[in-house]
Amino acid sequence: MQPSPIVSVAPIATLAGLAPSEALIAGFVEAIRVLKRMIFVVVSDRSGRLQMTIERASGDQPPSALEATALSLTVGSAVRVRGAAVLNPAVKTGGVELLASSLDVASLAEPGLPVDEHTASDIQLDWRFLALRRPENLLVFEVQTTIERAMREYWASHKFIELHSPKLMHSASESGADTFATRYFELGTAYLAQSPQFYKQMAIASGFERVFEIAPVFRAEPSMTPRHAAEFTSVDVELAWVESHEDVMRMEEAWLRHVLETVRTEHGEAIAHRFGVEVRVPTVPFPRLTMREAHAMLEREGHEIATETKPGDLDPAGERRLAQWALEQHGSELLFLTEYPSSLRPFYHMRDERDASVTKSFDLLWKGIEITTGAQREHRLAELTRQAEQAGLRESVSYYLDFFRYGCPPHGGFGLGLARLVMLMLGLPSIREATFLHRGPNRLTP
Ligand code: 4AD
Ligand code: MG
Repeated sequence: MQPSPIVSVAPIATLAGLAPSEALIAGFVEAIRVLKRMIFVVVSDRSGRLQMTIERASGDQPPSALEATALSLTVGSAVRVRGAAVLNPAVKTGGVELLASSLDVASLAEPGLPVDEHTASDIQLDWRFLALRRPENLLVFEVQTTIERAMREYWASHKFIELHSPKLMHSASESGADTFATRYFELGTAYLAQSPQFYKQMAIASGFERVFEIAPVFRAEPSMTPRHAAEFTSVDVELAWVESHEDVMRMEEAWLRHVLETVRTEHGEAIAHRFGVEVRVPTVPFPRLTMREAHAMLEREGHEIATETKPGDLDPAGERRLAQWALEQHGSELLFLTEYPSSLRPFYHMRDERDASVTKSFDLLWKGIEITTGAQREHRLAELTRQAEQAGLRESVSYYLDFFRYGCPPHGGFGLGLARLVMLMLGLPSIREATFLHRGPNRLTP
């Protein structure tokens, strides 16, 4: 069933292939060509582009009002055009031409747009709204919309409850070093949430059993890499009654498979056309390596971990090497790394019952880049309190420890960076291009 139109203008793409008809379209002026007898104006909307044609007055005739308006147009202006749509195979923009009978300039652009597709990427971010008009950038956000819808489809069919947890917090949720602080009434200092971690666990203690949240989180890391932002959209999931982190990983696999399958079906062709990448639907299970195995493999290959890496951790080059292994040995772009050392993980990750030096946790790498951290959580009050104490956090997280005092199911979950997923799916150079508006150490505008 065709949805009934919300506004009276027709999407340009709907005119292609139609018999000659009267049409009202609207969009931005993309190009203007003034010839002796004709004015050609390319108008684009989200769905496509077309050429509108205006005949000029001949000889000594004064120009019509329509012609005068067309001559005043500038690139970027927002216009509404009525006219006869005719098929004209000679027209490069989709084979449709609109013989304009009226032209309404809703908003005239200043002459000379400050950016185009050749401008340096940082300046494009300054003029993000103009960069976003380009079809490939619009596609990024159409794809992102489909990603989130597919995620929600999976959650709805498995009875997950959606959370909206507060972003102003009494204490840091992940690490003290990376928080933004702000004054908060008479209570002193509030911290911007680095993760909904504590609250999604609270929902488990509340008996919600399965929860998700898609919301902004804030990290005060002075990081300028293509993978880091100071504010990003985090996709968070938490699941009760898991036996181990393996249950969480199985859920994430099935969920991501559904997401990638949906994107491939709905946008696969457009993505290949605009970005030259194929969206591959992964087979499950994704390959898995424990961190011990991963280190042993890198050592055998003579890979030297970069010196600034924390002991027991991997460096980006090592992660890329492991991703290559997963692709060669298992044909998989996705790889789970499991059982991270306890020293590298937050206090709330459950330790392995056989070996307390490792956690029941995982990261998921896609094309060699981390997109997820997850774990089974410690739900036993005594153990959790001890681990909080060892991390020096017992006092600041006492309200969180209360969640575990009156019965809490075993549970686990993960967090995934939405922009990283979009960046890797489309092969974008950085998450700046995969985010509506980037926030980094040097960027707080627009
Ligand atoms: O790995 P992170 O820090 O894990 C957590 O927040 C845990 N609470 C998750 C859990 O449930 N155990 O962040 C989760 C994901 C990362 O894997 C990465 O994809 C993304 O969030 N991420 C960032 N994305 C953009 N900019 C940053 N600065 C990011 N930091 C993490
Ligand atoms: Mg992580």
